[in-house]
Amino acid sequence: MLTLAGVVKEFGARRVLNGVSLEVAAGEYVAIVGESGIGKSTLLNVVAGLEPVDAGRIELEGVDVTRLDDDAAARLRREKLGFVFQAFHVLPHLTLAQNVGLPLVLRGVPRGPTEARAHAVLAAVGLAGREHSRPRELSGGELQRVAIARALVGEPRLVLADEPTGNLDPENARHVLALLRAQVKEHGAAGLLVTHSEAAAASCDRRYRLSGEGLAPIR
Ligand SMILES: Nc1ncnc2c1ncn2[C@@H]1O[C@H](COP(=O)(O)OP(=O)(O)O)[C@@H](O)[C@H]1O
Ligand SMILES: [Mg+2]
Repeated sequence: MLTLAGVVKEFGARRVLNGVSLEVAAGEYVAIVGESGIGKSTLLNVVAGLEPVDAGRIELEGVDVTRLDDDAAARLRREKLGFVFQAFHVLPHLTLAQNVGLPLVLRGVPRGPTEARAHAVLAAVGLAGREHSRPRELSGGELQRVAIARALVGEPRLVLADEPTGNLDPENARHVLALLRAQVKEHGAAGLLVTHSEAAAASCDRRYRLSGEGLAPIR
């Protein structure tokens, strides 16, 4: 599903990713752990084609995302990727159903099927009946569940999650992690979770530590 080979990323003179290699198969859910500032978000951004790399190769279902122009990268994100961002990125003036349906609207899916699918995914994350609520009416844990619903609404082949429990108390964090894992598995997607938290990483099938030397497996 996803292959990273010798990925290097520099910001000016600072080398943030120093030869990162990784394989994630379809249906696998993999965690990358690392301290704050080590390059976890940067890694997800290069996988999503949001940032260019300085060396190496990133293949998603056989397509080298490092060689795509901006339009092709945006299309690939729309069609194949679900991104759970650290800061939710929900749009405050839209209802929950509109927020969750947005990836389908961007794909040109008609309104009826978009609404039906958004309602179904919101129900799957435990937010049935809240379709017409606005984000300001929700707790942090509920907002994170909206972010998970939006990442999965388009049945992405690969789900990228950036510190999905960063802003949550331990109980909500456990709930969100279990939900994220269940949803990734149920959709048959590959999952890549980055986090500073070993506890969060425990919800994944395999774990790696990111450092200045690249990725090392955690037993
Ligand atoms: N767009 C950017 N321009 C310059 N430096 C950046 C940029 N994005 C991230 N960095 C730097 O790269 C390093 C890794 O950042 P990041 O990937 O956000 O770390 P993490 O997610 O592990 O906390 C940090 O030192 C950060 O300041
Ligand atoms: Mg980060």
